[in-house]
Amino acid sequence: MPEVLSFINLKGGVAKTTTAVQLADTLAFMKQKRVLVIDLDPQTNATLALIGEERWGEADEAGQTLAHLFLDQVNGTHGFDVTRAIVKGASNLNKVPASVIDQLPADSRYGRVDVLPSSIRLIDVQDRMQDIAARSFYAVNPMEVVRKFIAPSFDAYDYVLLDCPPNLGFITQNGLEVSDHYVIPTIPDRLSTYGIPQIATRIGDIRRARDLKLRCLGVVITKYQSTSTQHRQGLERLETDLERAFSGTGERTPPILNTILPQTNASAEAMSFDRRTSTYRDKYGSTQVGGQAAYKYGLDLADELDDLLALR
Ligand SMILES: Nc1ncnc2c1ncn2[C@@H]1O[C@H](COP(=O)(O)OP(=O)(O)OP(=O)(O)O)[C@@H](O)[C@H]1O
Ligand SMILES: [Mg+2]
Repeated sequence: MPEVLSFINLKGGVAKTTTAVQLADTLAFMKQKRVLVIDLDPQTNATLALIGEERWGEADEAGQTLAHLFLDQVNGTHGFDVTRAIVKGASNLNKVPASVIDQLPADSRYGRVDVLPSSIRLIDVQDRMQDIAARSFYAVNPMEVVRKFIAPSFDAYDYVLLDCPPNLGFITQNGLEVSDHYVIPTIPDRLSTYGIPQIATRIGDIRRARDLKLRCLGVVITKYQSTSTQHRQGLERLETDLERAFSGTGERTPPILNTILPQTNASAEAMSFDRRTSTYRDKYGSTQVGGQAAYKYGLDLADELDDLLALR
């Protein structure tokens, strides 16, 4: 069974997508794991980072994105086919053509990233949750669309990473429904951490209402600037803030990961699919930052998350 992790924060721009995409690259190309990234965000950032505009355009045109799956539920159509929709051999670090990956036996352990693309059309679905229930005469629960149509494909992977939009709307809840854990990426400043108590409480409510085993695996500090007093103080304050946020939720206080992702140009530039990069090291940067080469933070993060998963 794969590890299924959602990346959540109510604040936009805290590196949810960047962290999820780098983790996918690390697991696939440095640790030879089979990774599926599900893009739940209409902004489509993870999709574009992993397959670029051209392949995304083909998927959108063919009606094979997550938005089309939800639109099928709203409109009573059946155009979406998960086996067609999952794009094989994503990421500009992949060296094997999709046609070859397609020929691999289903149980092949070849390390790779596949992606279920999103689309801006997902915005059209966001307010139509009730339509899904009504259209199917309540046979399809709007919260269980991903569980029903995507989760049966999870067995082919070691990890499934869900990149969520900055809200806890019903599309994010579809992701939580199939997740074992969620990770909260945050910049250690007031505005980025402000919504954490709300995440803890709301997810606690969802967990109880829907009888899920979902737990917070940890908080990842992102875009950290060691020269910023605000960041240093924010980091010092965070442990107490988390204890307060999670008390009464029935969940233990999640750890703050020791791996702190620094602000680096390389991390930002790595999200540009068209940038030519041949190696992981090249893509995530070898400039020294905070005492080690930038790319090493990605490796540290993957190792630490794996340790936390083993401990749980
Ligand atoms: N470690 C980093 N150093 C510098 N810039 C970064 C770093 N991580 C992410 N960024 C940049 O910060 C911006 C926001 O990152 P990202 O899109 O990953 O955030 P997000 O939380 O997914 O945002 P949204 O809520 O809009 O989905 C992007 O421009 C990204 O390139
Ligand atoms: Mg994002």
